[in-house]
Parts: sequence; structure tokens; C-alpha cells
Amino acid sequence: MYFVTSISALASLIGVAVADPKLLICSDSTTANYSEDDTLQGWGYYIGEYLSIPVTNLARNGRSTRSFINEGLWDALLNATAAGDFVVIEMGHNDDGDPETDAKDRATLPGAGEDTVVVTTAAGNEETVHTFGWYLREMIADVQAIDAIPIISGMVNRNDWDDGMLQSDWPFASYAEQVAEEEGVEWVDHTAYSVAEFQSFGETEAKTYYPEDNTHTNPAGARINAETFVQAVKYACGGSSLAAYLNNEGEAVSEPLAQACQGYEIII
Ligand SMILES: *[C@@H]1O[C@H](CO)[C@@H](O)[C@H](O)[C@H]1NC(C)=O
Ligand SMILES: *[C@@H]1O[C@H](CO)[C@@H](O)[C@H](O)[C@H]1NC(C)=O
Repeated sequence: MYFVTSISALASLIGVAVADPKLLICSDSTTANYSEDDTLQGWGYYIGEYLSIPVTNLARNGRSTRSFINEGLWDALLNATAAGDFVVIEMGHNDDGDPETDAKDRATLPGAGEDTVVVTTAAGNEETVHTFGWYLREMIADVQAIDAIPIISGMVNRNDWDDGMLQSDWPFASYAEQVAEEEGVEWVDHTAYSVAEFQSFGETEAKTYYPEDNTHTNPAGARINAETFVQAVKYACGGSSLAAYLNNEGEAVSEPLAQACQGYEIII
């Protein structure tokens, strides 16, 4: 008796051709592709350099789980997703707001419960707004319905410091982790690894990676966030089956700093 551990092994066993998987990304401006000559860049632009599979980075500036779905970006992502693909969902920056006063129709309720609030949108329509976790659960179900693999990833930190300490507790990352655990899907703790890395630089050096504000990185900062994503894929806490698709550059990304995921075992 043996166990079939991959989609392609299963496919060869039953004689079905499954295309090589790809990675699709649902996220916001911290991940999105900017043009080569922009002062800003998102980490999704670089992540393909560390993987042996193609990347479709559909992260879009300014979006939350709610607006990514409402504007049809999520349907477009699902359209482009095939069985066996990986779908990374890293959201939170724009979910974080008050749905009743948010003029951009993107804030969600905090947490992962079933509570709702009815709001009037900018266009004057009534909309029932759910919790961040509710939208994540919808996305997870949609990805699983096409036999693709959802990966919930914690949002990268903002560059917010207090007395020499970079903020490490990001509530929308914690809600995401809770949902991943409850739904039994892969959790990549991108937040913890990015916080550890930028904390190690200290406040003055960290600021050099955020030229315009304390949210958006320059290309060098985006590369750091791409490498901390790889760390979070390779090492517990969390860890992901995506680790099987790291290329030589991905394999070469070093171990996380001691601050990341204290108390967790290194899994590979
Ligand atoms: C984003 O940029 C990367 C890196 O150049 C590229 O591979 C990718 O095709 C771009 N666009 C999308 C939608 O992924
Ligand atoms: C998804 O694909 C269907 C069928 O090809 C198409 O009709 C629809 O417009 C697509 N939706 C999006 C949001 O791309």
C-alpha cells in the first residue's frame, strides 16, 4: 500500500493529463505589479523568480476581499484557475476600515464571525457587508470547488514602529490565520517573517524601503517581502505544499531569523 501525494502522481495513475500547476495571487497594492520604472513595487512581481511554476499576479491596488469580489476581479481569477493550481489570498490592508463610513466600498467587518451590517454604497445601493473571515471562506470554497489549492497568507506589515519595535500584531493577519485553521487549508504566515526581517533592520533602515508612506514598498522592499513569503512557505509556522515548487533561487532563500515564529519547529 502506498499513498498518492501529488495531483500529477494521481493523474498519471488514473491516466488523466493535468497541466503543470500555476500560482495565482489575489491581493492588494502591497503585492501588485507596478511598472519597471515606478518607485514602488509589490512582492508578487518578484515571487515568480523563486518558483518553478508560472505566476499570474492579479493583485490590484486598493482592493479588499469585498471589493475584489464585488468588482468581478475574483470571478476573473477563478476563470483563469485550473484544477491543481495554487491560489494565494493575501488580504487585509483595505478590509481594515468602517463599512458604515467607508466611501470606497471596501471595508469589511473585523473578525471571522457571521455578523453583518447593511450599508449604502457610493452608488446609493444597499449592500450587506460581512466579516473579513466570511469573505475569505467564500473564496476558499470557490477555489476548492474547482479542485485548486487555496493558500491563506498573512498580510505584510505596515512600517509602523513604537519605541524601536515594529508592530508585530496585525489583527487582519490573525483573522486570516483563524479562518485557515478552521477551514483546514494551508496557512502561510507571511506577516511573521516580514516583521522579523524588517525588525532586524531597525527603524531607520526599514524606512528606506517605504519611500512614499508606511504601506507601499520600493522594489528592494518588495523583493524582501517576496523572500519572506518564500521563508513562510518553506518553514513552519505554517508552511505550504508550494514548497515542492521552489526553484534553485527559492531553495537558496535562507532560514528565517530567530524572531519569526518563535516556538515552532523548522519543517525542512
Ligand atoms: C507581473 O509581473 C511578473 C514579473 O515580471 C510577470 O511574470 C507577470 O506576468 C506580470 N503580470 C501578471 C498578471 O502576473
Ligand atoms: C469568465 O469566463 C466566462 C466564460 O468564458 C465569461 O463569459 C465571463 O465573462 C468571464 N468572467 C470574467 C469576470 O472574466
